[in-house]
Amino acid sequence: MAATGGRTTAARVSAALGTGARRTALLAGMGLSAGLAAAAYGWWEKDQFTLREETLRVLPAGSRPLRVLHLSDIHFVPGQAAKARWLAGLADLEPDLVVNTGDNLSHTGAVPPLLTALRPLLRFPGVFVPGSNDYYAPTLRNPASYLVGPSSRTPLPRKIALDWPALFAGFGEAGWINLTNRSQSVPLNGVRLDFSGVDDPHLGRERYAEWPRGASGHDEKPHLKVAVIHAPYQRVLDHFADAGAQLILAGHTHGGQLCIPGYGALVSNCDLPTWRAKGLTDWENSGRTVPLNVSGGIGTSRFAPVRIACRPEAVLLTLLGA
Ligand SMILES: [Fe+2]
Repeated sequence: MAATGGRTTAARVSAALGTGARRTALLAGMGLSAGLAAAAYGWWEKDQFTLREETLRVLPAGSRPLRVLHLSDIHFVPGQAAKARWLAGLADLEPDLVVNTGDNLSHTGAVPPLLTALRPLLRFPGVFVPGSNDYYAPTLRNPASYLVGPSSRTPLPRKIALDWPALFAGFGEAGWINLTNRSQSVPLNGVRLDFSGVDDPHLGRERYAEWPRGASGHDEKPHLKVAVIHAPYQRVLDHFADAGAQLILAGHTHGGQLCIPGYGALVSNCDLPTWRAKGLTDWENSGRTVPLNVSGGIGTSRFAPVRIACRPEAVLLTLLGA
């Protein structure tokens, strides 16, 4: 009986091992299939461009509405025909102003085709600040590093310069205003928009230009103080809230890019809480509350060309009188 029992036990162990091996193989196969399905879905979603519309009562009482088109993180690569068509078509919105919060490029040859795609929008007044992906091309990294902290903490293997002077010249020739550590006023529809912008905080390059200064009585004229940032690090948001900003526009986060449906972003790629990684929220500091719009971005890094539960977006902000 013992021998029989021994054989039975051995047979059971063998069968169990066989079952375990099959189960492992089955689970591995299912995991691989799910991963491939998610990648295929994310590849599709990255081109499902959307327009998010928001309304804010931030203008002085009695002001006419202002329509501001907020673009960010285009990450253009030559050959992105669908993205180029969609960008050009945004001109049909006929915004009063375009605000571009950086990361326009993702390839050394991207400037000419991007300026062509943006040409219809360059007919409108615009302001811009740069992101790190206007200065340097993306590099292939361990994707897991993105999940453990801001990408600025990961040393770049080799910096590949992008042609940001040509990009900024193209914007400038169209009349778009460079707000890289600069401030400037723009009169629109009877309201003076006072802009203050910074170079990319993700690179630690922000220097504050404060607000534009005009004649005496400047502050009594109808105006709106708008801060323009690429990466919405908390130190920069706090600074502008303290400085009296009445609206803050930022990008950089890609809305988390790879999100969990029903939950949201897992990362913001900076120290912004993930629940603020995309959308319109209130930033509070020292008793001041400022509306903060963080764009979910239009593109992706060319080395991670997928989006999940986070469609690429432009944002049309309609500003109304309070
Ligand atoms: Fe970006």
